[in-house]
Amino acid sequence: MTTPADYRAGFRTQREEVDDTRLPVDGSFPDWLTGDLVGNGPGQFEAGDTSLRHWFDSLAMIRRFRIDDGDVTYANRLVRSRDYEYAEREGGVRTPFPGTPPDRPVWTRLRQVLDGTFPDNPVIGVQRLGDEVAAVTESPTALTIDLDTLDTTGRTDLTAGLDSDLTLAHVHYDRDEDAFYNLGVSYGRETVYTLFRRPGDGGAPTSLTRLRFEEAPYIHSFALTERYAVVTVNAFGLDTARLLRGAVTKETFLDAFRALDAPLRFVVLDRETGAHETTVTAPPAFVYHHANAYERDREVVVDLVAFEDERAVSGLGLSNLRSDDPDLPRGGLYRYTLPLTGGDAERERLHRGPVEFPTINYRDVNGEPHRYVYLAETDGGSSLPTDVTKVDVESRTVRRWGETGAYPGEPLFVSAPDPAGEDDGVLLSVVLKPGANRSDLVCLDAETLRECGRARLPHRLPYGFHGQFYGPSSPGRSMN
Ligand SMILES: [Fe+2]
Repeated sequence: MTTPADYRAGFRTQREEVDDTRLPVDGSFPDWLTGDLVGNGPGQFEAGDTSLRHWFDSLAMIRRFRIDDGDVTYANRLVRSRDYEYAEREGGVRTPFPGTPPDRPVWTRLRQVLDGTFPDNPVIGVQRLGDEVAAVTESPTALTIDLDTLDTTGRTDLTAGLDSDLTLAHVHYDRDEDAFYNLGVSYGRETVYTLFRRPGDGGAPTSLTRLRFEEAPYIHSFALTERYAVVTVNAFGLDTARLLRGAVTKETFLDAFRALDAPLRFVVLDRETGAHETTVTAPPAFVYHHANAYERDREVVVDLVAFEDERAVSGLGLSNLRSDDPDLPRGGLYRYTLPLTGGDAERERLHRGPVEFPTINYRDVNGEPHRYVYLAETDGGSSLPTDVTKVDVESRTVRRWGETGAYPGEPLFVSAPDPAGEDDGVLLSVVLKPGANRSDLVCLDAETLRECGRARLPHRLPYGFHGQFYGPSSPGRSMN
């Protein structure tokens, strides 16, 4: 029997590392599905004797599923970041984590502030860097991973050639241009976000434009259309003075997180030249993830998951997530329509939720009109999603997949070869099954959400964040 509190298994450390293991499969994975699903997320919730306080503090673990001709081979590895090695060797926190201060003397903490030392624990996602794949977070540093052995092979400075302290973890890839787009961030007397483009071979970045803010808004991701980059500037951000004082007081990013005296802003930039097209405002909200954006007449349509307030960040403390009665933020799927003449956005709720991890058929429709958004949805009483949900934003109909006592992670869409339509493909999701003390990789028909196959892991994985599918038909990204 499972109980509602079983979701807490998603926030429990897994230190077991498995070398390539062929998984038992129920049903079948399509024979055309070939490639590596590479996921990232928490592996360990302690640094030595220190219990980490926030979900985003957890030490990164890469999980890789190699899918070939119906077979699924699994391996996982904790990423050997400096933060991880320090936790192993010294038994504590090395750098200022989002919700846990460093276990270091005050002079070390001061030096870290002056030097701009950021964590290198890359727990958010993965991205391609030239021929390599790297684990990333909001940091200047990416850690490259050998996808055969899952060894951590090197460190790359993502800010090289940019006047930025760090880059965001959510990178866009444009297949036609063979180029990546991302934002760099620097904090100081003012906060500056730099939109940049990097060639697909991982070469030097080109800065397109810089957005300056007196306050320090937090931005987690942005959207691309065919012509524009849409930078969604949250109405929430950092009290930088408090963050600086934190070197002495041990206050963290989380303590310094607050509502700004500002609306939600959509800054629309020409992605070729960086020219500012317009800024559109909306009532305060918090956004982690965009589903997609596209142009329509003299408007830009943006579909995203929005939260009401800063609990979207502060509510993800591990003590709250692990409680019997968690007080959780509720994100809904919303459509904002932005007039290119500026002014106010129109907002419409597409799906109530609570939902997160919006994904689309990225390869075929990113930046263009889309019909389907896939999400992880929570059916109340749990800190973790209980369903994979498909929202048809044209007909406004919804399909769901779920099973009792199971918690599905981000659904990633992989297109079938020669697809007959936008949803001709599969969704891959790692599903936590606390009752079985195990996780499964589940493959759903993206059209019907019927399960086609599942591969049973030899152990339980903590609930993950973001992944990518790298295959012959998906050389870039499969999610946003
Ligand atoms: Fe994210």
